[in-house]
Formats: sequence, structure tokens, C-alpha cells
Amino acid sequence: MAFQTLDQADLQGKRALVRVDFNVPLSREEGEDGKVSDDTRLRAAIPTIDKLRKGGAKVILLSHFDRPKGKVVPRMSLKPIAAALETVLGLPVAFASDCIGPVARAAVGAMQPGDVLLLENLRFHPGEEANDPKFADALAANGDIYVNDAFSTAHRAHASTEALARRLPAYAGEQMRLELDALDRALGHPERPVMGIVGGSKVSTKLDLLRHLVTKLDKLAIGGGMANTFLYAQGHDVGASYCEKDLAETARDVIRLAGQNNCKLFLPLDIVVAEKMAPGAPARVRDVGSIDEDERILDAGPETIERLCRAMANSKTLIWNGPLGVFEMKPFDRGTVEAARYAARLVREGKLVAVAGGGDTVAALNVAGVVDDFTFVSTAGGAFLEWMEGKTLPGVAALLN
Ligand code: 3PG
Repeated sequence: MAFQTLDQADLQGKRALVRVDFNVPLSREEGEDGKVSDDTRLRAAIPTIDKLRKGGAKVILLSHFDRPKGKVVPRMSLKPIAAALETVLGLPVAFASDCIGPVARAAVGAMQPGDVLLLENLRFHPGEEANDPKFADALAANGDIYVNDAFSTAHRAHASTEALARRLPAYAGEQMRLELDALDRALGHPERPVMGIVGGSKVSTKLDLLRHLVTKLDKLAIGGGMANTFLYAQGHDVGASYCEKDLAETARDVIRLAGQNNCKLFLPLDIVVAEKMAPGAPARVRDVGSIDEDERILDAGPETIERLCRAMANSKTLIWNGPLGVFEMKPFDRGTVEAARYAARLVREGKLVAVAGGGDTVAALNVAGVVDDFTFVSTAGGAFLEWMEGKTLPGVAALLN
């Protein structure tokens, strides 16, 4: 893709404003500052920070944290994250209590090439989410170049992801570059046949996604709670299962659209049902449609998973979003775990490119223990989904210009 990378930048002595996504989970005991409980997003920023430091730049990190809605909310400060970043980088990380104005100016003014500074939460200012040109000017005043390394916020047209990119020479960071390359391999220019797996509970949140995917993919497997709506739409009884019955016609539209686009749809053949959604609840395998009125569908059955694995083995590329069952609860994790492990095996054998991301997907792949085996696992939630829906992400578009 036609964006500038750091290999093309003259970095020596430059003040580099780097948009990262340090919106990480914090666990907090009463009266404590908070501890980062998953530092994946901090570690993801290391290659860009290293590259900038090696080139002699001053690294000024910009991020949001949580949703303070334009006000200073002390428990949404990035300060504890500066401390966690020091540990991850093994370097001192300075912190400034404002991202614009005299406080930020003084902190940036004190930097030497190779130094790292984290500025306070961008969303403490209303101008960030409003994509306000004046706020973007105030941010730009502290930089010579702009680097966006936060694909996971690229679906937001905010000052630090959009307007700022238009004010300074703009570059894609290393993580952004990796992410865009992987996504291009999975859906932009994939090796065919290309297959998708879309799971999760609600059809209503994934309608745009399904409509777009059936025009792009050769095969699409639908699983999780949302498959119940499709089964119901085809006239099958779903018992007491979660089901968006009002979306039956929409589901039939997706089925029609798939047919028109030669995308083979895979819906469950058999299902795992239980009367209670509880860990260890007695579970039975049934054919689709044969379910008692007080039973709920909680996972895909073995025949469904076997057929899905065969379809993966006959594909060159896989894109995966959403679990196939209630993966958080044994024994209903089985379908997701078996399918994920099989995909991982195909990747290890060099037979498949597998890219996954969005929402619960990373957690599900973690349960299967295969995150490191997939070709690429995105840490982005909403941005990954919007990209899969074929939408233009403002943060990416601004870099391309
Ligand atoms: C995320 O965690 O997905 C990103 O940081 C975006 O956060 P937001 O949904 O609050 O914009």
C-alpha cells in the first residue's frame, strides 16, 4: 500500500509524535494506581520505538485511555502505563501531565535524541474526539514528524489519528505496517481459495460484515450464537437457544447474496445442546433441528467441525472473527478449540495463511493455545471488524494521502 514507512524517514534529531494504542486493561486495587494486566499493546509498540531511537529521533507517545469524554478523569490517567512501559522497554519513560500546552511543550523541550516521553490521555480534551483542527494544531506544535502505529484506533476520525496526519509528514509505524500487510494478504489480495469463519452471538452486530464477506470469499462458515438465527431462518427448531428471530429475513438475504456471489456457506450440520449454560453442564450432540424446547445450542457439533476442517484444508487463506461456541465454558469450548488447533496445524505445515482478530477472537485462540501459531492475530477490536466490513478507516486513509 502507498504509505510512507519509517525506512523512508530522516529521523535524526526529529521530534516524532507517535500515535500508539495504550488502551490496555488495568487491574486496580482500592487506592492503588493500577497495574497493566495485559501488556500486548505495549509490547507491540517496541519495534517502532526502537527504530525511532536508533535513527536519533525523540519519541513522543500519544494515546487515549478509556472514554473520559473530554474531561480530566484521574483514574483514566496514562501515568501508570508510563511505569509499565518502562518495564517493557527497559528504559526510562518520562511522563507529562498534559498532551498540549505549556506542560507538554516543556517536557518535549527537555528531550534529547533517543528519549521516550508519554503524554497524558488525549481524550482529556474534547478536541480529540471532535477531530478539532485547533487541537490538532496544538498537538502538531510539539512534533516534526507524525507516526501512526495504532491500527486499533484507525476506525476513529479523531484529531490524533486523522487531522494530525495532515499537518506533519506522516508515516506508518512498524506495527501498523505489519497489520496492514497481514490484512491485505487475508482479504485485499489473498491467495485463493479464501475462507472465512465468522462466529459470535449476534447477527445484528455483524450484518455489514457478512454482506461484505460473501462478495469477497470463496467459502464462509457461520458459527456461534449467530448461526442459530440462520438455522431458524431455514425453518429449523432452535429450542430455547439465543436467536434473533426478527432477523430471519436478513439471514435469508445473506444466504441469497452468498449464492449470487459463488460463496459457499457452511452452516452447522450438528450441534451441542444443554439445558443450562453452566460449566460442566450435561451436553448432548444432536442433528440440527432436533432439539427439545428447553435445550440451548452452545457449540458446533463434531460433524460440523470436521467439515469445517476439511474446508480449511482445501483453502489457502483463512480469515477468522468470533468463536464457534461458548468457548469460555467447558465442554462448550470444544468446537472453537478443535477448529483453531487444526488451522494452526495447517499454518505450521505451510499450507495456510491464517489471520484472526476482533472482539473475543484473541481470547478464544488463547483458550486453544494457538495465538502464536496463526500467521497474524490482530489486537484490534472495532477497527478489525470495520476493515473486514470493507469500510475505509479514517486513520489509514489519512496516512495514504
Ligand atoms: C480499542 O480498545 O479497541 C481501541 O483502543 C479503541 O477504543 P474506543 O472504542 O474507546 O475508541
